[in-house]
Amino acid sequence: MIELTRVSRSFGAVQALRDIDLSVAENEFVAVIGRSGCGKSTLLRLIAGLLEPSAGTVTVSGAPVALMQQVPALLPWRTALGNVMLPVEIRRLPREQYRDRAVALLDAVGLAGFHDRHPYELSGGMQQRVALCRALIQQPRVLLMDEPFSALDALTREEMAGQLQDLHLARSATTVFVTHSIQEAVLLADRVVVLSPRPGRVRKVLGVDIPRPRSFGHNAHLEAVAECVAHLHDLLLHD
Ligand SMILES: Nc1ncnc2c1ncn2[C@@H]1O[C@H](COP(=O)(O)OP(=O)(O)O)[C@@H](O)[C@H]1O
Ligand SMILES: [Mg+2]
Repeated sequence: MIELTRVSRSFGAVQALRDIDLSVAENEFVAVIGRSGCGKSTLLRLIAGLLEPSAGTVTVSGAPVALMQQVPALLPWRTALGNVMLPVEIRRLPREQYRDRAVALLDAVGLAGFHDRHPYELSGGMQQRVALCRALIQQPRVLLMDEPFSALDALTREEMAGQLQDLHLARSATTVFVTHSIQEAVLLADRVVVLSPRPGRVRKVLGVDIPRPRSFGHNAHLEAVAECVAHLHDLLLHD
Protein backbone atom coordinates (compact mmCIF):
# COMPACT_ATOMS: atom_id res chain seq x y z
CA MET A 1 0.00 0.00 0.00
CA ILE A 2 2.82 2.38 0.96
CA GLU A 3 6.32 1.73 -0.26
CA LEU A 4 9.42 3.82 0.43
CA THR A 5 12.66 2.72 -1.19
CA ARG A 6 15.96 4.28 -0.17
CA VAL A 7 14.28 7.59 0.48
CA SER A 8 16.36 10.59 1.54
CA ARG A 9 15.29 14.17 1.93
CA SER A 10 17.43 17.24 2.54
CA PHE A 11 16.55 20.85 3.17
CA GLY A 12 19.56 22.80 1.95
CA ALA A 13 22.53 21.55 3.94
CA VAL A 14 20.32 19.75 6.47
CA GLN A 15 19.63 16.11 5.77
CA ALA A 16 16.36 15.26 7.47
CA LEU A 17 15.97 11.63 6.35
CA ARG A 18 18.50 9.15 4.99
CA ASP A 19 17.93 5.88 3.15
CA ILE A 20 14.50 5.05 4.50
CA ASP A 21 13.13 1.67 3.42
CA LEU A 22 9.62 1.06 4.63
CA SER A 23 6.62 -0.78 3.33
CA VAL A 24 3.23 -0.66 4.96
CA ALA A 25 0.67 -3.32 4.09
CA GLU A 26 -3.01 -2.71 3.45
CA ASN A 27 -4.88 -2.05 6.71
CA GLU A 28 -1.69 -2.19 8.69
CA PHE A 29 -1.19 0.29 11.55
CA VAL A 30 2.41 1.49 11.77
CA ALA A 31 3.59 3.86 14.47
CA VAL A 32 6.71 5.98 13.98
CA ILE A 33 8.66 7.20 16.99
CA GLY A 34 11.88 9.15 17.27
CA ARG A 35 13.34 12.25 18.80
CA SER A 36 12.22 15.72 17.91
CA GLY A 37 13.76 16.84 14.61
CA CYS A 38 14.54 13.33 13.33
CA GLY A 39 12.30 13.75 10.29
CA LYS A 40 8.95 12.24 11.35
CA SER A 41 6.81 15.04 9.93
CA THR A 42 8.96 15.07 6.80
CA LEU A 43 8.29 11.35 6.39
CA LEU A 44 4.51 11.88 6.56
CA ARG A 45 4.66 14.81 4.15
CA LEU A 46 6.60 12.64 1.69
CA ILE A 47 3.95 9.92 1.92
CA ALA A 48 1.16 12.49 1.60
CA GLY A 49 2.79 13.80 -1.58
CA LEU A 50 3.30 17.27 -0.11
CA LEU A 51 7.08 16.93 -0.50
CA GLU A 52 9.31 15.26 -3.08
CA PRO A 53 12.14 13.01 -1.92
CA SER A 54 15.69 14.20 -2.70
CA ALA A 55 16.52 10.59 -3.56
CA GLY A 56 14.62 7.31 -3.67
CA THR A 57 10.98 6.58 -4.44
CA VAL A 58 7.69 6.84 -2.59
CA THR A 59 4.62 5.02 -3.87
CA VAL A 60 1.16 5.02 -2.32
CA SER A 61 -1.49 2.87 -3.94
CA GLY A 62 -4.46 3.71 -1.74
CA ALA A 63 -6.74 6.69 -2.23
CA PRO A 64 -7.96 8.93 -0.83
CA VAL A 65 -5.15 9.83 1.58
CA ALA A 66 -6.00 11.89 4.67
CA LEU A 67 -3.39 13.74 6.73
CA MET A 68 -4.20 14.78 10.29
CA GLN A 69 -1.89 17.40 11.74
CA GLN A 70 -0.72 18.11 15.24
CA VAL A 71 -3.07 21.08 15.70
CA PRO A 72 -6.72 20.62 14.75
CA ALA A 73 -6.96 23.65 12.38
CA LEU A 74 -10.74 23.78 12.36
CA LEU A 75 -12.61 26.61 10.69
CA PRO A 76 -13.81 28.77 13.61
CA TRP A 77 -17.00 29.91 11.90
CA ARG A 78 -18.18 26.38 11.18
CA THR A 79 -19.88 24.01 13.61
CA ALA A 80 -18.36 20.65 14.50
CA LEU A 81 -20.56 18.96 11.91
CA GLY A 82 -19.78 21.69 9.37
CA ASN A 83 -16.07 21.12 9.86
CA VAL A 84 -16.41 17.36 9.41
CA MET A 85 -18.40 17.95 6.21
CA LEU A 86 -15.83 20.35 4.75
CA PRO A 87 -13.94 17.82 2.59
CA VAL A 88 -17.27 16.53 1.26
CA GLU A 89 -18.32 20.02 0.21
CA ILE A 90 -14.95 20.88 -1.28
CA ARG A 91 -15.06 17.75 -3.43
CA ARG A 92 -18.77 18.15 -4.19
CA LEU A 93 -19.65 14.67 -2.97
CA PRO A 94 -23.30 13.78 -2.25
CA ARG A 95 -23.99 15.73 0.92
CA GLU A 96 -26.96 13.80 2.27
CA GLN A 97 -25.14 10.48 2.09
CA TYR A 98 -22.06 11.78 3.91
CA ARG A 99 -24.06 13.69 6.50
CA ASP A 100 -25.23 10.44 8.12
CA ARG A 101 -21.66 9.24 8.19
CA ALA A 102 -20.46 12.51 9.75
CA VAL A 103 -23.10 12.23 12.46
CA ALA A 104 -22.16 8.59 13.14
CA LEU A 105 -18.45 9.48 13.39
CA LEU A 106 -19.06 12.37 15.80
CA ASP A 107 -21.23 10.12 17.94
CA ALA A 108 -18.59 7.38 17.87
CA VAL A 109 -15.93 9.69 19.35
CA GLY A 110 -18.23 10.89 22.11
CA LEU A 111 -19.44 14.14 20.58
CA ALA A 112 -23.14 13.33 20.46
CA GLY A 113 -24.87 16.55 21.50
CA PHE A 114 -22.01 18.75 20.28
CA HIS A 115 -22.61 18.64 16.53
CA ASP A 116 -23.81 22.22 16.40
CA ARG A 117 -21.11 23.73 18.60
CA HIS A 118 -18.36 25.93 17.22
CA PRO A 119 -14.67 25.23 17.91
CA TYR A 120 -14.40 27.96 20.59
CA GLU A 121 -17.13 26.14 22.53
CA LEU A 122 -15.13 22.89 22.51
CA SER A 123 -12.13 21.76 24.56
CA GLY A 124 -8.83 20.96 22.85
CA GLY A 125 -9.58 17.25 23.03
CA MET A 126 -13.02 17.73 21.52
CA GLN A 127 -11.56 19.84 18.70
CA GLN A 128 -9.04 17.13 17.94
CA ARG A 129 -11.87 14.59 17.83
CA VAL A 130 -13.65 16.75 15.28
CA ALA A 131 -10.42 16.86 13.25
CA LEU A 132 -10.22 13.06 13.45
CA CYS A 133 -13.78 12.75 12.14
CA ARG A 134 -12.94 15.18 9.35
CA ALA A 135 -9.94 13.03 8.39
CA LEU A 136 -12.15 9.91 8.35
CA ILE A 137 -15.21 11.29 6.57
CA GLN A 138 -14.09 10.26 3.10
CA GLN A 139 -13.21 6.76 4.27
CA PRO A 140 -9.54 7.26 3.40
CA ARG A 141 -7.67 4.11 2.50
CA VAL A 142 -4.52 5.74 3.84
CA LEU A 143 -4.57 7.73 7.07
CA LEU A 144 -1.50 9.73 8.10
CA MET A 145 -1.45 11.18 11.61
CA ASP A 146 1.23 13.57 12.86
CA GLU A 147 1.34 13.55 16.67
CA PRO A 148 -2.40 14.15 16.68
CA PHE A 149 -2.84 13.92 20.44
CA SER A 150 0.33 15.64 21.64
CA ALA A 151 -1.36 18.88 22.69
CA LEU A 152 -3.82 17.07 24.96
CA ASP A 153 -3.64 16.20 28.63
CA ALA A 154 -2.59 12.65 29.52
CA LEU A 155 -6.03 11.27 30.31
CA THR A 156 -7.64 12.74 27.20
CA ARG A 157 -4.78 11.28 25.14
CA GLU A 158 -5.46 7.84 26.50
CA GLU A 159 -9.13 8.21 25.79
CA MET A 160 -8.50 9.39 22.23
CA ALA A 161 -6.04 6.59 21.59
CA GLY A 162 -8.66 4.11 22.79
CA GLN A 163 -11.24 5.62 20.45
CA LEU A 164 -8.81 5.53 17.56
CA GLN A 165 -8.23 1.85 18.26
CA ASP A 166 -11.98 1.20 18.23
CA LEU A 167 -12.36 3.06 14.95
CA HIS A 168 -9.43 1.20 13.45
CA LEU A 169 -10.89 -2.15 14.49
CA ALA A 170 -14.31 -1.20 13.10
CA ARG A 171 -13.21 0.24 9.75
CA SER A 172 -9.52 -0.02 9.27
CA ALA A 173 -7.40 2.09 6.99
CA THR A 174 -3.71 1.77 6.29
CA THR A 175 -2.35 4.06 8.98
CA VAL A 176 0.99 5.74 9.69
CA PHE A 177 0.86 7.31 13.12
CA VAL A 178 3.67 9.56 14.33
CA THR A 179 3.94 9.93 18.08
CA HIS A 180 6.51 10.58 20.77
CA SER A 181 4.52 8.43 23.16
CA ILE A 182 5.83 4.89 23.44
CA GLN A 183 2.62 3.90 25.21
CA GLU A 184 0.47 5.12 22.33
CA ALA A 185 2.64 3.29 19.83
CA VAL A 186 2.34 0.01 21.74
CA LEU A 187 -1.40 0.42 22.23
CA LEU A 188 -2.13 1.09 18.59
CA ALA A 189 0.47 -0.34 16.27
CA ASP A 190 1.06 -3.61 14.44
CA ARG A 191 4.66 -2.47 14.03
CA VAL A 192 6.65 0.39 15.54
CA VAL A 193 9.34 2.07 13.46
CA VAL A 194 12.07 3.65 15.58
CA LEU A 195 13.96 6.42 13.81
CA SER A 196 17.47 7.45 14.79
CA PRO A 197 18.28 11.12 15.52
CA ARG A 198 18.82 13.34 12.48
CA PRO A 199 19.33 12.36 9.80
CA GLY A 200 16.47 9.99 10.48
CA ARG A 201 17.21 6.39 9.55
CA VAL A 202 15.21 3.32 10.40
CA ARG A 203 16.91 2.15 13.54
CA LYS A 204 14.58 -0.72 14.32
CA VAL A 205 11.19 -2.06 13.36
CA LEU A 206 9.48 -3.79 16.25
CA GLY A 207 6.45 -5.99 15.74
CA VAL A 208 3.83 -5.63 18.48
CA ASP A 209 2.38 -9.06 18.90
CA ILE A 210 -0.29 -8.31 21.49
CA PRO A 211 -3.95 -9.24 20.91
CA ARG A 212 -6.53 -6.48 20.48
CA PRO A 213 -8.34 -4.71 21.89
CA ARG A 214 -5.41 -3.49 23.99
CA SER A 215 -5.63 -1.13 26.91
CA PHE A 216 -3.46 0.87 29.27
CA GLY A 217 -5.38 -0.47 32.21
CA HIS A 218 -5.70 -4.01 33.47
CA ASN A 219 -5.82 -6.60 30.77
CA ALA A 220 -4.50 -10.05 30.13
CA HIS A 221 -1.35 -8.87 28.42
CA LEU A 222 0.28 -6.46 30.87
CA GLU A 223 3.55 -8.33 30.76
CA ALA A 224 3.82 -8.26 26.99
CA VAL A 225 2.92 -4.55 26.98
CA ALA A 226 5.53 -3.77 29.63
CA GLU A 227 8.22 -5.69 27.76
CA CYS A 228 7.47 -3.92 24.52
CA VAL A 229 7.42 -0.49 26.19
CA ALA A 230 10.73 -1.19 27.92
CA HIS A 231 12.35 -2.34 24.69
CA LEU A 232 11.28 0.80 22.81
CA HIS A 233 12.32 2.97 25.72
CA ASP A 234 15.85 1.55 25.59
CA LEU A 235 16.03 2.01 21.83
CA LEU A 236 14.99 5.65 22.04
CA LEU A 237 17.10 6.54 25.03
CA HIS A 238 20.36 4.90 24.05
CA ASP A 239 20.95 6.16 20.57
N1 LIG B 1 10.44 23.02 5.09
C1 LIG B 1 11.61 22.90 5.72
N2 LIG B 1 12.63 23.73 5.46
C2 LIG B 1 13.81 23.58 6.07
N3 LIG B 1 14.08 22.64 7.00
C3 LIG B 1 13.11 21.78 7.31
C4 LIG B 1 11.82 21.86 6.71
N4 LIG B 1 11.05 20.87 7.22
C5 LIG B 1 11.81 20.21 8.11
N5 LIG B 1 13.05 20.76 8.16
C6 LIG B 1 14.16 20.26 8.99
O1 LIG B 1 14.25 18.87 8.84
C7 LIG B 1 14.49 18.23 10.10
C8 LIG B 1 13.37 17.26 10.41
O2 LIG B 1 12.16 17.98 10.66
P1 LIG B 1 10.79 17.28 11.00
O3 LIG B 1 10.46 16.31 9.93
O4 LIG B 1 9.79 18.35 11.27
O5 LIG B 1 11.14 16.49 12.35
P2 LIG B 1 10.18 15.85 13.45
O6 LIG B 1 8.78 15.89 12.93
O7 LIG B 1 10.71 14.48 13.67
O8 LIG B 1 10.34 16.68 14.68
C9 LIG B 1 14.63 19.35 11.12
O9 LIG B 1 15.98 19.65 11.28
C10 LIG B 1 13.90 20.51 10.47
O10 LIG B 1 14.43 21.74 10.89
MG1 LIG C 1 7.04 16.73 13.62
